[in-house]
Amino acid sequence: MWRCLILMTCLFACLIPAEMFAQGALKTVTVEVYLEDGAQLFIEGQETTSKGTKRLFVSPPLPPGKYTYTIKAINAGPNGPRTVTRQLDVQPGDFESIDLRAPGKRPITDVEYEPTPQNIVDALLRLGKVTSKDVLWDLGCGDGRIPVTAAKVYGCKAHGFDIDPERVKDSLANARSHNVERLVTIEQRDIFTLDLSKGPTIVTLYLLPHLNAKLLPQLRKLPPGTRVISVAHRMADIKPDEHIVVDTEMGEYDVYLWTVETLRGN
Ligand SMILES: C[S@@+](CC[C@H](N)C(=O)[O-])C[C@H]1O[C@@H](n2cnc3c(N)ncnc32)[C@H](O)[C@@H]1O
Repeated sequence: MWRCLILMTCLFACLIPAEMFAQGALKTVTVEVYLEDGAQLFIEGQETTSKGTKRLFVSPPLPPGKYTYTIKAINAGPNGPRTVTRQLDVQPGDFESIDLRAPGKRPITDVEYEPTPQNIVDALLRLGKVTSKDVLWDLGCGDGRIPVTAAKVYGCKAHGFDIDPERVKDSLANARSHNVERLVTIEQRDIFTLDLSKGPTIVTLYLLPHLNAKLLPQLRKLPPGTRVISVAHRMADIKPDEHIVVDTEMGEYDVYLWTVETLRGN
């Protein structure tokens, strides 16, 4: 498929106006796939040659648009081969991660832990115009750096939720070491079971494009005026109210802000 995409890109290239290249509108899609040991992996029907339990694919640079990739794994099992197929909706610029291992072999988390660099935490809180009256909820809080910084710098109440008990421990220790236990609470929860209709005035996310889309029905129930900030990833096709790019040692990160009214399409 990636070979096909290169060909498709060449075909598309003939039709794309020269300004699009000049504006750098072509972007790659990166997909990380977790598999069982020795699994065969097919992308758009084409068997891939890479090996290992974590495989990374980068598409050729693509013009803006929506693309659906069919990703299939054939895992060896005691009762014969087990085939798992997933369709992934992507857009150029996306980073996606999917786990095609058997349910019992997958970690409990929907996305691996990766902390937001601290200068992005600072920038996103400025973008959200956080004040001491806000109540911030970080969905999938990792080591709690977003709620802890919000409480420490702005004096607001902040709650972190993470499904992984190790991350909950890290967050509680972080809140303790920064002396903000009075303002910060941390709970072990699956974020997809949270009622978001009560409580937060600002929600922060560092998940994946397909998880942001899955969370959208819950986010649309947030109280009026609530701001939602996502590190790195879009929210379906909804144009953000604000967008900044933050430079870090690991490269540039996009940070997006929507009000709940924008998410509801009001
Ligand atoms: C990329 S990390 C972001 C951590 C933190 N928000 C930050 O920006 O530094 C995503 C976090 O989400 C957590 N997570 C993944 N799936 C979850 C779920 N269904 N419910 C709650 N937390 C989840 C992971 O354990 C991980 O700590």
